[in-house]
Amino acid sequence: MPTITTGTVERQAAQAGRKPGRRTDEVIAASLLSEGIYELVIRDPYVARTAQPAQFVNLYPADATMALPRPFGVAKVEGDDVTLIYQIVGAGTAEFSLLQAGDVIDVLGPLGKPFDTTKPANYVLVGGGLGVPPLLYAAQKLSKCNDGTQVTSVFGYRDARFAEDLVAPFADKTYSIVNAEGNVIDLLNDIEDELRNVGQPPVILSCGPTPMMKAVAAWASKRNIPAQLSLEARMGCGYGACVACVVDTPGGRLKVCKDGPVFTTEELGWEA
Ligand SMILES: Cc1cc2nc3c(=O)[nH]c(=O)nc-3n(C[C@H](O)[C@H](O)[C@H](O)COP(=O)(O)OP(=O)(O)OC[C@H]3O[C@@H](n4cnc5c(N)ncnc54)[C@H](O)[C@@H]3O)c2cc1C
Ligand code: FES
Repeated sequence: MPTITTGTVERQAAQAGRKPGRRTDEVIAASLLSEGIYELVIRDPYVARTAQPAQFVNLYPADATMALPRPFGVAKVEGDDVTLIYQIVGAGTAEFSLLQAGDVIDVLGPLGKPFDTTKPANYVLVGGGLGVPPLLYAAQKLSKCNDGTQVTSVFGYRDARFAEDLVAPFADKTYSIVNAEGNVIDLLNDIEDELRNVGQPPVILSCGPTPMMKAVAAWASKRNIPAQLSLEARMGCGYGACVACVVDTPGGRLKVCKDGPVFTTEELGWEA
């Protein structure tokens, strides 16, 4: 059995009054969700206790020729276990796809600024492709609010609807569309009246490909619906030290890893 150091690292960090740094977590489960899309469950009590929706963790490949960690949004938390859902796109994710229960992996996080979900609302989670995982965690967290908050998921998939079973337990209403049927803007147009007639006013939380989020931001701002957008960027460190992830905004250059990944439509200048 590998030696798992997570508990010790967290205890030492807590005693020193700081966040735990990079640590080694045990893989609890690893499975194929859909073609090329994997679910990875790691045991990380600190992430489980502190992560907020849209925050991410850095996973470090064991292959030392890949110096940079890979960021993934937290998709679900159960007890001390944290679920990540990812697609194989290159060498790092290909390596992670070989992980099995009992293996170990180096982790840092949670990192980044989360969605602001402090006010009661009808939170409309608009996700595209592998932007869906952080929204699953938003749904899980929001489903525990007893303040009139509602959750509507609006997910756009390329083909397989890989997250419907995962979001259903946490959402009041679920809608989805695959590429052959249209895109999430078509879906939002279809359900606009329903979104406005469920009690609380809608607030959009979105994550997905940049062109999709620009369209979502424009759709929302035309209707005076507030939107928070979780951006993806190529990252280096993940915590503000390397300037790999900057995005130009009307307020200057901001770091997606530290100033985001969540930004408002106004911060990004993405109004219609
Ligand atoms: C905040 C955040 C959350 C994310 N959450 C998820 C998630 O929940 N599920 C998921 O499948 N993917 C997610 N991604 C994208 C994921 O990080 C990349 O797909 C992954 O890093 C690719 O690594 P690779 O080694 O397979 O690809 P390679 O192409 O070999 O990667 C080379 C380098 O580019 C970076 N990179 C490559 N593609 C991306 C990308 N699309 N976005 C950011 N960096 C990239 C890698 O981190 C690495 O440094 C997220 C990205 C960010 C920024
Ligand atoms: S990834 Fe290093 S500054 Fe953002």
